[in-house]
This record gives sequence, structure tokens and C-alpha cells, in this order.
Amino acid sequence: MNTHVHWIPTRSRTEAAEDATELFRNTYNTNPAGCWVAPGRVNLIGEHVDYAQGISLPFALSQVTAVAAAPREDTLVRITSISGDNTLQTEVDLKDVGPKNPANWSGYIVGTIWALAEAGVVPLRGYDMALVSDVPLGAGLSSSAALECCVAVAACDLQEATAEKDILAKACMRAENEVVGASTGGLDQQISLKGEDGHALAIDFRDNSSYQVPFDMEGHGLAILVVDTNAPHELADGQYASRRAVIDGVSEKFGPLRDQENLNPDQWADENPDPSGTLDAEAWRKKVRARVAHVQSEIARTANAIEELKRGDMQAFGNSMCASHASLRDDYEVSCPELNMVVDTAMAQGALGARMTGGGFGGSAIALVKKADIEKIAQAIADAFAEANFRDPRVAVAIPAAGAQRVEV
Ligand code: GLA
Repeated sequence: MNTHVHWIPTRSRTEAAEDATELFRNTYNTNPAGCWVAPGRVNLIGEHVDYAQGISLPFALSQVTAVAAAPREDTLVRITSISGDNTLQTEVDLKDVGPKNPANWSGYIVGTIWALAEAGVVPLRGYDMALVSDVPLGAGLSSSAALECCVAVAACDLQEATAEKDILAKACMRAENEVVGASTGGLDQQISLKGEDGHALAIDFRDNSSYQVPFDMEGHGLAILVVDTNAPHELADGQYASRRAVIDGVSEKFGPLRDQENLNPDQWADENPDPSGTLDAEAWRKKVRARVAHVQSEIARTANAIEELKRGDMQAFGNSMCASHASLRDDYEVSCPELNMVVDTAMAQGALGARMTGGGFGGSAIALVKKADIEKIAQAIADAFAEANFRDPRVAVAIPAAGAQRVEV
């Protein structure tokens, strides 16, 4: 079989900024005051541990969301946005923004401005905005963080406000957690703001410290292939929150999971029976133990993987990726048939490692492959998906790129 391989289209940052600027002119009949971009991300390892004081190793993608913006005198935010085939238009008064309002995509934008104002970083003032994006929506590549972070840097620049990236990240997270109502853990915003060309970022969520780790796959003759499975994932929100509820609950009772060597969470499981009411006490204990095992093993694995990367042992790093995937699939149960198929196919075709990336339940997987094998592996994945009657996947070579920034047009 030779199925058509779909590549994720990517503009350069300048092209994206130019397109946002043109969209702004066409929409508002005037020039924007400037243009800002923020990237999506892949996470190399350290999955579902950011909300458990764990360690993650993401890098920022070259694919960005770009916003062209101009400040207004009032508190209205007018938004026009084009992402792929979706064009969206809306306006929101910042005075109406707050917890769970608006709990849709515009909440990422106006929620960020609201949270920055709440933190005293910028005044509560409106903007006209035009956005374009190459970070595919719903692909698990943090299109929401890209949206929040480009708006955050735009608002700060336009109000001549200076704030540490951690303060911006916190405001972006508030938009996501409180306004949109997604209980995510902060990984995506940090990397979208702090990414650097040619580097991954080792983040320790215990104290939010981070440092850049050179990530030069070219130098090893390797590449990171990212595959958006295009799998439908309607269940995602509830499933993410239910995983998090267990980890939050167990951590509250026993302290950070990272510090507990022989933690047995049975007592917590008995005090907090299966909220869905489907599992009996023993089955629920087993499930809670598996959830805890994932978080604990993933934190240790990520610490090791960072060392493997630093000493250039890419096969060991690939093995850690595979072990991470197995843990997410079997213990944390956040994978899905499409993600497993990407991983299994890539490994069968000679990848050094592969795993789901991001929250799971659909979204994207990554594979560490020899540069010479990129086309072959992309083709094998497209063929396997066609054979299984899955939707067409989309692929890209993921290039570690810079975080949110202003782009002169
Ligand atoms: C999503 C969330 C992040 C993180 C990952 C899983 O991307 O937004 O905070 O929890 O899932 O690692």
C-alpha cells in the first residue's frame, strides 16, 4: 500500500505574523500596533506529572499562533481568528470575564488579559486582535497555550508592562484553569514562553525552576517526527480531571508522590471509593496503585532521560520514551488505539523510541527516528492508519524553536 502522507503546513514566524497583520487590516481597516507569536510544543518525556510536582522535558515547536493587535480605549476585546479551515469571530467585554466565563475558546484570550489585569500587570483594557495559527487545534500540541502566550506578550508590550515569564505563565494558566475550566498543570505555558532554538527545557515543577538542555538531533543524524493522530477525543476533559483528582487526593494525604518510596495508597482508595461507582473496593485499589505507579515511575524516568540526553546516549533516551508510553498506556490509561499504532509502527520500522505526547486520549505521538527513515516511517504510519480505517494522520518534523516573541513585519 502507498497511502498519501499529509504534512502539517507550516509558515515561518515572519509569514505567520504577516498573515495576521493582513487579517487585521482586512478586518479593522487600519494597521495593528504590532505582531506577536507563541509556539505549540511537544513534550519529550515527563507526562502527566506537572500537576504532581514532577519533571518534564518539552520543547517549543516552530509552528506558532500569531496575533496582530492594537489597544482600545474601552474594555472590549474584538477577535478574528483563522486556524486551518476554521474562521471565528467574536467580541467580549473584559468586565464580563471571570471564572467559567467565557468557557470557550475565546476564554483563552480574554481570560489571559483578565488574569494579567487581576495580577496588576496590565490595566483592564481592550484590544482589537487578528489571529492566525499553524498549531493544529485539538492535536495535543498546546494550541491553547500558544493562544494564551501570544496574547500575554502582546498585552504586556502594548501596555509597556514588564513581567517575569513565570508571572505570565501563571496568568495564562489562570485563563485555562479558571476561565475555560480545564484543570491543566502548567507545562504548556512554561515552554511556550521559555522555549529556545535548538533546546529542550527541563522543568522541575516542585519549585518551577527550569534550565535549557541542548537538543541537537541533526548532530546525531536523528529527528523527532510528530504525528497528529486526528483521533476524535471528546472524552478528554473528564478523563484528564479524573486522573488528576486521584493524584491530587493521594498527594494531599501522603505528601508529594515524588518523596514517597514505598507508598501504598490503599487507605486513600478506601476512603475515596471509585467516583463512577463501577469498580469494587479491590479493583479500585488496584487502579489507584497503577495511577500512582505511573506518576512515580515517570518522574524517575524523566530525571534519568535528561541525563541520557546530556551524555548523548540517544538509544537509552529512546528506551525511556518507550517505557514512558507503556506506563501511560497501561498504568495511567490515557493512550488510545491510534496513539499506540503510531508508537508500534514507528518502533517496528526502526525508530529509537516513540511515545504519546501531551494529555492523550487522541492528540499526537512523537518518534525519535533516523533522519534517513523519516519518509519511510511517515509512510508506514499513514498506511497502517488507512488499513485500520482510522482518520488520516498528519505528520511534521518537530524542530526545537524559540518561545513567545514580538515579530517585526
Ligand atoms: C496537557 C496539560 C499539561 C500536562 C499534559 C500531560 O497538555 O495541558 O498541563 O498535564 O497534558 O503531561
